[in-house]
Amino acid sequence: MTAKQIIDNTLKTLPSDLDPQKLPRHVAVIMDGNGRWAQRRGLPRIMGHPRGVDALRELVRCCDDWGIQALTVYAFSTENWNRPQQEVNVIMTLIEQFLRWELPELMQRQIHLELVGKLQELPESLKKQMHRSVGSTTENQGMRFTVATNYGGRQEILQVCQALAAEVKQGTLNPEDIDQALFERHLCTVGIGDPDLLIRTSGEMRISNFLLWQLAYSEIYITDTLWPDFDRAQMHRALWEFQKRDRRFGKVKS
Ligand code: FPP
Repeated sequence: MTAKQIIDNTLKTLPSDLDPQKLPRHVAVIMDGNGRWAQRRGLPRIMGHPRGVDALRELVRCCDDWGIQALTVYAFSTENWNRPQQEVNVIMTLIEQFLRWELPELMQRQIHLELVGKLQELPESLKKQMHRSVGSTTENQGMRFTVATNYGGRQEILQVCQALAAEVKQGTLNPEDIDQALFERHLCTVGIGDPDLLIRTSGEMRISNFLLWQLAYSEIYITDTLWPDFDRAQMHRALWEFQKRDRRFGKVKS
């Protein structure tokens, strides 16, 4: 075996100080800091986004290699339309390229891709690629990888309310029967459950309208690292911190 192969195999293995039984089942990530990463190098802000895609590709591989069952990332929020048009175009193009170019590897790894958010408002060519990529991976039984694009947590909650109100109006649902389980069946995380761990890069202490319902009891890990610099060593650190936490879900320690 070459030195590179030995190193690659080592990186693919869950670090020995992490307990495979105590991994978060579902990890959500707010990939923040692409613009600052570029600006610190004297580059235009948009130059950070392609490096952000590289970091995302590596995170998908890492989560799959280490046995994370579900990964959900925030690619574009409903508020991100307010950025300069050129930056919006770059992000849309990068998402489309990512979905096209990564498809063979997603298939090889048996990764099940999902796209959530108000997808109907996205550019036509992106929608077509989303349809193709999601369609190809529907039978895959491996890690579930969800990309939130044109997503807003408040909007998602409103959509669930509208769907439930429509059922009440039709006479197929009693308002008293609306409980958390029914509500959750209408959320984009149906089938994978709430994130156990939310990672946010670049030091901001905000949830930024991401998965508002689902993050109620998630552990939050914030790192100053800017998203393009987030690598396996950083993920190792995040998982290590997660495993030290005492998750009580509002109860006292038994
Ligand atoms: C935040 O950095 C990042 C975004 C708004 C876009 C995230 C997009 C990617 C990582 C690439 C495309 C996604 C996929 C799924 C291929 P920022 O620009 O807000 O950074 P700043 O806070 O330093 O300005």
